[in-house]
Amino acid sequence: MNRKVLLIALMIMVTVFGYTAYTIRTSSPTAAESGDVLYERHCAACHGINLEGQANWQTQNPDGSWPAPPHDETGHTWHHRDDYLIETILYGGASVTGNQLNRMPAFNNVLTNQDAKAIIEYIKSTWSDEIREMQKNGH
Ligand code: HEC
Repeated sequence: MNRKVLLIALMIMVTVFGYTAYTIRTSSPTAAESGDVLYERHCAACHGINLEGQANWQTQNPDGSWPAPPHDETGHTWHHRDDYLIETILYGGASVTGNQLNRMPAFNNVLTNQDAKAIIEYIKSTWSDEIREMQKNGH
């Protein structure tokens, strides 16, 4: 091999290596999105942008189902422990309660366990210390 060929080979190697390193760096998984962003995208349409729930959420729909309740302190989300809430988010209300009329969708196709946790943390961050303390003893 003469020097010129060696130099070209070297240049190709540097280019390929550089490109590979660049690709690996830019395609590495992005940091998990924060709970408030995930909430806004996946939950706010039904549960309200300010966690206020649907209008007249305490009035049953004509078909026997219930509207989406608030996630703020006026609702009953805080009556439940984290693991129950995460299960509800991932597997849906019907699966968790056994009530087929429960319209809370399952999100396990779009959200990871970590996403569900981040959303719960966001919701909890809006509660008072007292409510947070009571939620720990929920069911
Ligand atoms: C298509 C509307 C809709 C979307 C979107 C939705 N929910 Fe719901 N969710 C409901 C309804 C309706 C209920 C109440 C079902 C019932 O009680 O029968 C509910 C109930 C719940 C409950 C149970 C509350 C309790 O106190 O028992 C939790 C927790 C919950 N949703 C969290 C979420 C989260 C977090 C998201 C976003 C990832 C979300 N929901 C997205 C409609 C929705």
